[in-house]
Amino acid sequence: MLEEQKAVIVGGTSGIGLAAATELCRAGAKVWVTGRTQDKAMAVAAAIGDRATGDAADARDAVKLQAFFAKVGEFDHLIVALGGGSAIGAFKDLDEAKMRAGFDNKFWPYLNAIRIGVGYIRGPGSITLITGAAGRRAIKGTSGLAAVNGALQAIIGPLALELAPIRVNAVSPGLIATPYWDRMPEDARRAMYERSAASVPVGRVGAPNDIGQAVLFLVSNGFTNGAILDCDGGARLV
Ligand SMILES: NC(=O)c1ccc[n+]([C@@H]2O[C@H](COP(=O)([O-])OP(=O)(O)OC[C@H]3O[C@@H](n4cnc5c(N)ncnc54)[C@H](OP(=O)(O)O)[C@@H]3O)[C@@H](O)[C@H]2O)c1
Repeated sequence: MLEEQKAVIVGGTSGIGLAAATELCRAGAKVWVTGRTQDKAMAVAAAIGDRATGDAADARDAVKLQAFFAKVGEFDHLIVALGGGSAIGAFKDLDEAKMRAGFDNKFWPYLNAIRIGVGYIRGPGSITLITGAAGRRAIKGTSGLAAVNGALQAIIGPLALELAPIRVNAVSPGLIATPYWDRMPEDARRAMYERSAASVPVGRVGAPNDIGQAVLFLVSNGFTNGAILDCDGGARLV
């Protein structure tokens, strides 16, 4: 389906980005996965397979990102999936520094990746952002995540108009079991997963591959544009 096509996954060494890279590779694309360290990026690419290349490119650093995209050269599809999540917690506990860190770790790196990467996208191509359900639904304790992901979701439409014929879309995941949550103590993580599974209509938390498949759809369907695809098991409905 995606033979002869090349995709760059910024933040492709873990979780959702890795699942997206794996799905795109299975569909025939050549993929470049990035993270912050060279060794990990290369090891992950080797595990994905022959059509994957890994390279370090810290998306907070525009100079490094520029050098990375220049090395990759022309490609077809940009997926931005890097981890954020600094601005978590009740609004009363979110001081300015925490909120700024939330934007520094996700919003600005995403903008860097789009701004620099778009210059290398050939043909019609596409850009797919991984945003987050907190930007789509009011959940207590997520005002920081809502601000960051909501800001990204708000620019999907204008970018789809300005960057045409490149398509611009987002996947908005619900709770997905990825290494991102390894920073929580195991008991607390398990309890969070159980609470989420009990409240979501599909009765489970998401797997990285759920989002990988959603990314593959947005990349390969040439008539979907300016869309935010909720992939949250119906969490936004309850
Ligand atoms: N998991 C969830 O429940 C969930 C829900 C909603 C939204 N999301 C969003 O989905 C995205 C991916 O999350 P995830 O759960 O897959 O997290 P993850 O497993 O922790 O993966 C994060 C990825 O981002 C990369 N990364 C982090 N900072 C980077 C930087 N400055 N430059 C380049 N790459 C960087 C990491 O690479 P290295 O470690 O190799 O540097 C890794 O590949 C995030 O934006 C998150 O907000 C996740």
